[in-house]
Amino acid sequence: MKNVLITGGAGFIGSNFIRYLLKAEPDVQIINIDALTYAGSLANLEHLPDNTRHTFIQGDICDSVFVERIVEQYQVDTIVHFAAESHVDRSIAGPTPFIQTNIVGTFTLLQAAYNAWGKSENKNDFRFHHISTDEVFGSLLPDSPTFTEITPYDPRSPYSASKAASDHLVRAYYHTYGLPVTITNCSNNYGPYQFPEKLIPLIILNALQGKHLPVYGDGKQVRDWLYVEDHCDAIHLVLKKGKLGETYNIGGENQPTNIEIVNMICAILDELKPASLPYASLIQYVSDRPGHDRRYAMNIEKIKQELNWSPKHTLANGLRETVEWYLLNIDWVNLIMSQNNYQNWLNKKYQNQEEIK
Ligand code: NAD
Ligand code: DAU
Repeated sequence: MKNVLITGGAGFIGSNFIRYLLKAEPDVQIINIDALTYAGSLANLEHLPDNTRHTFIQGDICDSVFVERIVEQYQVDTIVHFAAESHVDRSIAGPTPFIQTNIVGTFTLLQAAYNAWGKSENKNDFRFHHISTDEVFGSLLPDSPTFTEITPYDPRSPYSASKAASDHLVRAYYHTYGLPVTITNCSNNYGPYQFPEKLIPLIILNALQGKHLPVYGDGKQVRDWLYVEDHCDAIHLVLKKGKLGETYNIGGENQPTNIEIVNMICAILDELKPASLPYASLIQYVSDRPGHDRRYAMNIEKIKQELNWSPKHTLANGLRETVEWYLLNIDWVNLIMSQNNYQNWLNKKYQNQEEIK
């Protein structure tokens, strides 16, 4: 691993991974390409541990000329592919960019990787790592067994369908052309630098502003929560020791309901930033997400057994660290909220949400 191309490195997980990798691998050079959509920001890349080993280039992964040029110019030997449209609600409101970036973008990148690998003198050192999601497996019933790496795909939103398509393409390049790939499917990430449209930052930031805390439907949907630093640790391990062509599930070993998560955040805020009323009094049940998946839960035995990885954060300490980070980084929050019409998008979304009594 010498010249590592990170796609989507100005987003939430990508920027955390860049921070992680600069510390973990003192000799790597990182080339970070990101289109800087509404979800990406250079503010996520401030205060990197070693900026001299990080080069940011703005560009679109669907642009084959651009991607081929970068891969060649920087003699890329490792690609870690985070770039995607990632928000389920936005995929319901407007699926087009999801199809474009998640499917066409992944295809464009695979093609560039295949060309570079073909010309490479060190073919054995080349790697394409793809970041995927637990959502490709669909929705679990309350007592169904957890998702394993061989659970059949059953995506149910435009977002998860586009991610499933990209996973299939990555596997196709391994089986058809022998491109050295690995894939990880992870559960819901949370932690520093997460864009405020996702549940955990949204609840923290709405609570601090005294706004209602929107819980979709009955709030009993179950998610598996993974602290982003644990995720970075797992990706790094898969890059170093993962078997080619294999998929590894990554999860946080906890499966609370959404309403439990919201109440946990409120309790932490009550302690760290007490207000006149308990924050939980702001909870409002609102109309449900169309096609809302009921339950995700990851079986992570494979990565535990084969690579000796386990999450280091419990949900309680990960959530506390996250709330503390947002409280300490209000300047970052204000900057992000002021960019790319986020507030308008949020207001429009709230107009379509009806309170459920
Ligand atoms: P994010 O939305 O915060 O960041 C995505 C980044 O990709 C942004 O910086 C954006 O500007 C960039 N991007 C989008 N379209 C692009 C394009 N066409 N060309 C170049 N860059 C483009 O997403 P995230 O939460 O950091 O997720 C990263 C990856 O992890 C995604 O592939 C997502 O599907 C996957 N994932 C995320 C989670 C989660 O909980 N956040 C869980 C499972 C899997
Ligand atoms: O499971 C992994 C996926 O997690 C990733 O693949 C996606 O990229 C990522 O966005 C995330 O998707 P979710 O839809 O699970 O995340 P979100 O934070 O939007 O929602 C988490 C849960 O909270 C979900 O059940 C919907 C619910 N929710 C969300 C919001 C924004 C609410 O109840 N109220 C809200 O306002």
